[in-house]
Amino acid sequence: QSRPWSHASGKVILLGEHAVVYGVPALAVGISRGALARATPRDEGPSILRLDGLPVELRADDEERDLSRSFRAVLEASGVQGSFLVEARTDLPPGAGLGCSAALGVALARALDPGATAALTAERAMAWERVFHGNPSGVDTAVSAEGGCIYFERGRGFERVESATPLLLCVGHTGTISSTKSMVEAVARLRERRPEMVAKSFDAIRSLVRNARLAIEAGDVRALGQLMDLNQMLLSGLFLSTQEIERMCGLARDVGALGAKLTGAGGGGCVASLVENRDVAERVLHAWKEAGFEGFLAETTSGS
Ligand code: MEV
Repeated sequence: QSRPWSHASGKVILLGEHAVVYGVPALAVGISRGALARATPRDEGPSILRLDGLPVELRADDEERDLSRSFRAVLEASGVQGSFLVEARTDLPPGAGLGCSAALGVALARALDPGATAALTAERAMAWERVFHGNPSGVDTAVSAEGGCIYFERGRGFERVESATPLLLCVGHTGTISSTKSMVEAVARLRERRPEMVAKSFDAIRSLVRNARLAIEAGDVRALGQLMDLNQMLLSGLFLSTQEIERMCGLARDVGALGAKLTGAGGGGCVASLVENRDVAERVLHAWKEAGFEGFLAETTSGS
């Protein structure tokens, strides 16, 4: 008999992406777009993953496919007995910085063991992420499992951050996708070539993230917007921005956004823009649309 569908949030990193891989904290919020999965026990044969939109079923005993290996990794990490048919789907665009793969991993882990805590579910979903990303910090799976707003530090887990006022975020897609793995590798190469420059940028990002946490807790969205803009400048200095990202950030600021930056791995993908109210949100989405960029007003999740 099928269990109910389990949900996992998508995510928007407010500040701290990339630096978080090297131990700098990051702030992220869960969004209601995300992933769903459900597990139905099977009488015999291997566990099977049916991913919506993928023409083939993935068998857990298939050694060839990355996705099958990831699926097996989550099954093993979850310690479940027996075999399952797991169905999963997502309404997040892949390769866009909104945590599509992490949300799928979290939804799978949650479907297999719905009673597990968010922290444990996130840890199990890391088995799925590692197959794709090589060196994930864990921020994506943490916020996907916990929802709400979190302050995440690699190796230390996450703390919930209570926002004094709801955060209104417009998310827009540059129209190009990027690979998190290769963007993380690009930063690693830059760090080898210019260690001091990268270390100084990460130090600056650390200060921005800490101040941003205080701003969120105080409900100071203006300060938060400025800190996001500063983070964008530093990310751009690490060669993670693109012309489209800069253009979208500029368009958002021109019509009154409080701040705008790339979110996630950069090199394409999505831009997140903080706005004060729904009127400004509409203006931002309209400006992006006029320029040929799709966007939506993110609904942030309230957290588990
Ligand atoms: C990707 O959403 C966030 C990065 O910081 C990578 C990671 O934390 O694993 C770029």
